[in-house]
Amino acid sequence: MGYFELNNGVKVPALGFGTYQMPPAITEENVAKAINLGYRSIDTAQNYGNEAEVGAAVNGSGVSRDDLFVTSKTQTSGYKTTLRGIDESLRSAQLDYFDLMIIHWPTIDNSGTYKALEEAYQAGKLRAIGVSNFNSSKVQKLIDRAEVKPMIDQIETDVYWQQNKMHKFLNQNNILHESWAPLGEGLSPVLSEPAIIRIAEKYQKSTAQVILRFLTQQHIMVIPKSTNPVHIAENLNVFDFKLTDDELDIIKSLDQGHSGVNWPSSMGQEAY
Ligand SMILES: NC(=O)c1ccc[n+]([C@@H]2O[C@H](COP(=O)([O-])OP(=O)(O)OC[C@H]3O[C@@H](n4cnc5c(N)ncnc54)[C@H](OP(=O)(O)O)[C@@H]3O)[C@@H](O)[C@H]2O)c1
Repeated sequence: MGYFELNNGVKVPALGFGTYQMPPAITEENVAKAINLGYRSIDTAQNYGNEAEVGAAVNGSGVSRDDLFVTSKTQTSGYKTTLRGIDESLRSAQLDYFDLMIIHWPTIDNSGTYKALEEAYQAGKLRAIGVSNFNSSKVQKLIDRAEVKPMIDQIETDVYWQQNKMHKFLNQNNILHESWAPLGEGLSPVLSEPAIIRIAEKYQKSTAQVILRFLTQQHIMVIPKSTNPVHIAENLNVFDFKLTDDELDIIKSLDQGHSGVNWPSSMGQEAY
């Protein structure tokens, strides 16, 4: 497993396990399976409705809590409701702390919402804080006022939407770029992209593995989600090969500057 370091010194696994749209009834079993296979980072959210099951899998895993990295996301706006929401999430997951809590989407009161994260961070309830789906101007506004600089921005990123401008901005500000939907959420043609198939054949890997390797080699944290045992194991097995500069350039040239997913709503259409 590769690791990245956040701007507060906390180490974070380069690859974790996503749980969006994972029904609560099967979440504990799948997260337990993932941890057993070697995943050390799990991504949930208040609005996934499965924080309790993620927490149960973490607490029942037999792996030291110090070795696991659990992320959740707020779905509230404003200082007081967000503070309350963080405590409710901790209670629900039966955890003493989250390793990372991020604002899920920009809210009407980003500064109040972020202030609650800062306070929970300073109280030791969160080991790191950050945002998700924030463009550079929204991140900059937070940085300008923040007591605690955000450590991560989790944004839609895959090989068709590499987020080059945001990546540069986040790097310059020492904020880790985390990808959601690294495999196009199963809705994008990215897994059957011919250029990636050719590279996958060379390494005897799947296209999903090449994509996850590409993103982590770009210093982007990934959290692929799967409920298929073969895919869960496969997605973790991406650190035993390294793409060459030429292969990185081939994949970089696939960037289209927008999502490869035809979202039904405005989701993912934020101007970065
Ligand atoms: N911050 C946000 O707003 C936001 C938004 C969306 C997602 N997220 C987070 O990011 C995580 C990942 O994103 P995502 O779940 O939307 O999409 P994703 O991980 O890009 O894709 C998941 C889909 O890919 C398939 N898949 C996974 N591994 C595969 C493999 N090796 N080969 C072929 N197909 C494979 C899965 O199907 P199978 O189950 O059949 O393998 C599933 O349909 C989420 O689970 C969530 O934790 C955050």
